[in-house]
Amino acid sequence: MTSLDAPLFDGDFRESLTTLLAWRRDIRRFDSHPMDPNIVDDLLDHACLAPSVGNAQPWRFVSVQSEAIRASIAQHVDTENRKAADVYDDEQLRSEYQRLKLHGLREAPVHLAVFCDENAAEGRGLGRQTMPETLTYSVVMAIQNLWLAARARHIGLGWVSILEPDKIGAILDIPSDWRFIVYLCMGYPAQESDEPELVKLGWQDRIDQRKTRFVR
Ligand SMILES: Cc1cc2nc3c(=O)[nH]c(=O)nc-3n(C[C@H](O)[C@H](O)[C@H](O)COP(=O)(O)O)c2cc1C
Repeated sequence: MTSLDAPLFDGDFRESLTTLLAWRRDIRRFDSHPMDPNIVDDLLDHACLAPSVGNAQPWRFVSVQSEAIRASIAQHVDTENRKAADVYDDEQLRSEYQRLKLHGLREAPVHLAVFCDENAAEGRGLGRQTMPETLTYSVVMAIQNLWLAARARHIGLGWVSILEPDKIGAILDIPSDWRFIVYLCMGYPAQESDEPELVKLGWQDRIDQRKTRFVR
């Protein structure tokens, strides 16, 4: 497409984009509505429009459909969740943690494990010599695309990281040079909100964003 054919992003579009960003949520409570596999494919196509270092496109998506594997991953996350709760010595904090840390994996119709191919030939190493982690960043960009594209279809996504990457790689029989990035649960949300769950439940409020900006 030449610049003459470039789409016009008008005021209405910008307003909708702001709304989309404000209503993107980490979702753990799903209704029982199944997800059309074509929609999942379409969302992954959106994910793959992300930028990537050297155009390496190192994202690798594993759709976890086996009930036995899903159950074993949910069980693993339950175990890690209990261990994570034990980190809090304070009894009240521990019970607060236990109350808010749902993983939603048993309810979510779609499970996606996302990996980064650390040896992706694409990109021929461009841009990742001094900062190899840029490959990982590229995958995270793709996940953000997926998250927003899902939300634009009223589909919710939850980012599950309370797990052992090696264990997930072993359960899913993944090549050793794929680095585990995230396990995602996805489906139609039981409720929609413009407020993060952790804010609602009093765990962590939004900070004053002006304090995150610096000038040198
Ligand atoms: C890198 C990353 C890891 C996360 N890991 C978890 C997790 O393991 N469990 C969880 O409940 N939420 C997890 N989240 C979701 C955050 O809790 C959530 O994004 C945050 O509370 C803000 O809420 P919002 O996404 O609805 O704006 C993760 C998010 C990110 C970006």
